[in-house]
Amino acid sequence: MYVCICKGITDKHIRNAVIDGASSYREVREQLGVASGCGQCACDAKAIVRETLNDIAASIAQLKRSGVVFEDYDFPGLKTVNHVCVLGAEKAAWFKDTEGNYLCIHEDLA
Ligand code: FES
Repeated sequence: MYVCICKGITDKHIRNAVIDGASSYREVREQLGVASGCGQCACDAKAIVRETLNDIAASIAQLKRSGVVFEDYDFPGLKTVNHVCVLGAEKAAWFKDTEGNYLCIHEDLA
């Protein structure tokens, strides 16, 4: 769907900008030019950036492009699908840092 009529920018353009590495609304705006015309789309564009940054699949894609390798598990009570495990009211994914420590990212489902 078009978010910014002035610049012809869709929600997919905004999501892809975040997945490709933009980490804030400011970066998306600088990259795409969203909200640089009449400005009517700014609130919607900010909401899409916020949603995408909080989306674990988008975060995984962004981190993988930076070289992060996510773990996969298949244990009783803990199975990942595409690196993600649903644990109650959240999703989680794990990876190791450069020193071998396990780190986890989460997405609240509530
Ligand atoms: S609708 Fe985006 S700047 Fe006008």
